[in-house]
Amino acid sequence: MLALADVTLYRGNTRVLDAVSLEVAEGELVALIGANGAGKTTVLRTVSGLLVPSAGTITFGGKPIHGAGSDAIVRMGIAHCPEERKIWPEMSVHEHLELGAFVRRNNAAELRQDIERVFETFPILKERRDQLAGTLSGGQQQMLAIGRALMSRPTLCMFDEPSLGLAPMMVEAIGEMIVRIRGQGTTVLLVEQNAALALRLADRAYVLETGRVTLSGRAKELAANPEVHRAYLGG
Ligand SMILES: Nc1ncnc2c1ncn2[C@@H]1O[C@H](COP(=O)(O)OP(=O)(O)OP(=O)(O)O)[C@@H](O)[C@H]1O
Ligand SMILES: [Mg+2]
Repeated sequence: MLALADVTLYRGNTRVLDAVSLEVAEGELVALIGANGAGKTTVLRTVSGLLVPSAGTITFGGKPIHGAGSDAIVRMGIAHCPEERKIWPEMSVHEHLELGAFVRRNNAAELRQDIERVFETFPILKERRDQLAGTLSGGQQQMLAIGRALMSRPTLCMFDEPSLGLAPMMVEAIGEMIVRIRGQGTTVLLVEQNAALALRLADRAYVLETGRVTLSGRAKELAANPEVHRAYLGG
């Protein structure tokens, strides 16, 4: 479904991505793990069209998408739930969800249906629909960021560190929600520094180190790999 082939990207003079190749098949849950500054967010921002690679290709459903605008990429079916949630504190829950549907906002009935579907997945958001997002807890804000991403009806949803800064119970809940979203037919690319969580949820995973993919394989096998264990799973 999604394929990056030898994607290289510079920020200034620094090569932040170095010939990154990875694939996500339809229906898969694929994790991308790596330390601080490895380039994980850059990979997602490049797929989303927010950054343009200096070399390499990105295809979605076989068609090249690198260089297409980010709004066109959302329309093609790729949603991005960004790092640090990017919630607007002064906007309501409901307004965030409407905003998530900006590429297909003309059908009011569909919009209402989609908001109801998000509320079914996250009942707490329904209770708080008129509340300002800044008054939500961290976990609720993460649910809102996920719900907003789902509002574009993606076939591929990318999550950037959804567990960051959350209490252990909420981390588990968010993990379960991501598994449920995949179960409903959405393909998932999950970026996490929490490798234990990501490798538990994913079918396959890639390890990114200073802009290069250094390991990839079945998530279970990577979790059992002594090198991965030492570097990312706390020994
Ligand atoms: N706007 C920018 N300008 C220049 N360099 C940047 C910019 N954003 C990120 N970088 C650099 O790109 C590299 C990769 O950053 P990126 O944010 O993709 O890493 P990451 O794996 O997501 O890290 P983290 O786990 O901390 O979120 C880092 O060396 C970072 O300093
Ligand atoms: Mg990041």
